[in-house]
Amino acid sequence: MDKLLVEGGHTLQGTVQIGGAKNSAVALLPAALLADSTVTIDNLPLISDVEHLGEILQASGAFIHHEGTKMTINPQSARPEIMPNGQMKKLRASYYMMGAMLGKFKQATLGLPGGCDLGPRPIDQHIKGFEALGAEVTNDRGMLCLRAKELRGARIYLDVVSVGATINIMLAASRAKGQTIIENAAKEPEIIDVATLLSSMGAKIKGAGTDVIRIDGRQTLSGCAHSIIPDRIEAGTYMITAAAAGNEVLIDHVIPDHVEPLTAKLREMGVQIEEGDEQLLIRPGNELQRVDIKTLVHPGFPTDLQQPATALLTKAQGTSIITDTIYNARFKHVDELRRMGADVKLEGRSALITGAKSLEGAKVKASDLRAGAALVIAGLMADGVTEIADVHHIERGYERLEAKLKGIGAKIWRAKASREEVEALRANER
Ligand code: EPU
Repeated sequence: MDKLLVEGGHTLQGTVQIGGAKNSAVALLPAALLADSTVTIDNLPLISDVEHLGEILQASGAFIHHEGTKMTINPQSARPEIMPNGQMKKLRASYYMMGAMLGKFKQATLGLPGGCDLGPRPIDQHIKGFEALGAEVTNDRGMLCLRAKELRGARIYLDVVSVGATINIMLAASRAKGQTIIENAAKEPEIIDVATLLSSMGAKIKGAGTDVIRIDGRQTLSGCAHSIIPDRIEAGTYMITAAAAGNEVLIDHVIPDHVEPLTAKLREMGVQIEEGDEQLLIRPGNELQRVDIKTLVHPGFPTDLQQPATALLTKAQGTSIITDTIYNARFKHVDELRRMGADVKLEGRSALITGAKSLEGAKVKASDLRAGAALVIAGLMADGVTEIADVHHIERGYERLEAKLKGIGAKIWRAKASREEVEALRANER
């Protein structure tokens, strides 16, 4: 299995181009099934989650043409095929096939979703929504069976603010009879992106981006073309990377408003950030100051940047506290950071990070996607070479990570090899 080898201590400078948003892409592709003619999605990130969803759509009988950042989906030949466990387990967002197939065919039989292990990740709110729309949902030996004679609009209050449940209900409701109202809806930019696609298909959606969304369903939806918004979490990861190891790094193709919670925290740490229309210029100060961070639903600080931010705070002066209010077990990166010399203590849902510690390169493991990003950042700050195993987690959500980092001067290699063999790779590059 591939590893990443990161040599720390090099100052990063230059421009990083941000790709399309993973968490939009993985919802927009299943959403294409809801149309009755061809949908083209552009600005797709080049990540394995997108490839796996393409395979899942193909398995449903849809015709797919995927080239680079563009996928054309003709859903006319799609059928309510049984989606087996193996395929669905490859990623969390396979759960959007529930809303899409239920909306389109009024039935779906699917394995349970997989994804990063961040502790319990129930889908009770998705099911509550489908049932309110008129579906019967049963669990038959690990397969979820959804059936509805017809879907009828309903008023649904989410007990937990959930991105996935909000989007899944929007998908099914866009082909239900009448109006659906989602109360206590999630407000992430990706939800607005999905609403934009569904509106282009002909559904009438109001309030996306607020906590009350109204969806007027349609019996038929038409094909359309859509370009995905920039990935705010990828942008945020490179902003943190720039603060950790950069001199002047320009983050290009970003919507500055979408990363505001991070921008505010980095400024509090002493990082200078200049905003353009679609660009952010990051200049870290001489000394980073401690901060406390609490992850919250949007527009609060995103949980998906908690792990990269933990890595950065090992460099700040003083003790910082990061609390994750969204997931209670998103701390697997902490053990790995400790292997590199970080002083981090866990107390419940909080990590206490005593900063200004120099990190040492070590052999570590990416336990999940954002933990992987955190270790890359730690590796860039550390003395010596850090060897990161289980890179497939990183490939799920960061496109061309090594190329983008190399473009700003990082020393990073992919290898099946051990640390010793990196010397040979480095020699080739000289
Ligand atoms: N929750 C429930 N019941 C539900 C749904 C969620 O209790 O039916 C709880 C979850 O256990 C969690 C909280 O509600 O504690 C929020 O979960 P949410 O449903 O919002 O998360 P998700 O839709 O499964 C998406 C992203 C995650 C991101 C979260 C929070 C996708 C494919 N995934 O997950 O992204 O962390 O929203 O913003 O959109 C990542 O990109 O690394 C990632 C994990």
